[in-house]
Amino acid sequence: MDDRDLMKITRRKFLIVGAVTATTAVLPPFISALASAANQMARPVRAPVSLEVNGVARQLDLDTRTTLLDALREHLHLTGTKKGCDHGQCGACTVIVNGKRVNSCLTLAVMQQGSKVTTVEGLGTPDKLHAMQAAFIKHDGFQCGYCTPGQICSAVAVLDEIRQGIPSHVSQSLTDRPQLIASEFQERMSGNICRCGAYSNIIAAISEVAEVNA
Ligand code: FES
Ligand code: FES
Repeated sequence: MDDRDLMKITRRKFLIVGAVTATTAVLPPFISALASAANQMARPVRAPVSLEVNGVARQLDLDTRTTLLDALREHLHLTGTKKGCDHGQCGACTVIVNGKRVNSCLTLAVMQQGSKVTTVEGLGTPDKLHAMQAAFIKHDGFQCGYCTPGQICSAVAVLDEIRQGIPSHVSQSLTDRPQLIASEFQERMSGNICRCGAYSNIIAAISEVAEVNA
């Protein structure tokens, strides 16, 4: 090994030692800043939420990530509303918010601040059923019943939509009055999936209530 080789090794060692020293000096503050940012992000942010649920004013203090569905089920213990897919695909979680049906798994509770929410518990009671609840029983509109609260809330809101003249995708004309017919009910209820396949009985129940109210 001549002097020139010795120089090279010395220079290489110098660079390695320098880099390690610099990394050691810079890394701890960087890592601690990262950890603190991650900590901040992981800490739940809470917010007060006021809702009127089934006619009763309710005050909640919720993690802002709480869905309306979880607020109803886990915080207000209104377990009539069901969690099926939790992704807006099955309709089991349907409730009525300010007169419109909503998939409660797809909306955050904080987004509904001040809203009026009706769940299946608010439509009727075992002693005094809502007409739609009674019709579902009469027409056997369910088997396991898991989808039923969502189906009933949706069906009640569907009849309101028709009364308001909101067209269906199967309406012949957007300007015609919506019709109280099975094909319209089927299309309007298409967001509510029933794994037991009670569809024809559900439509029979809705048709009966629609005729009585027509
Ligand atoms: S649970 Fe909300 S749509 Fe399925
Ligand atoms: S009654 Fe069982 S999923 Fe509809």
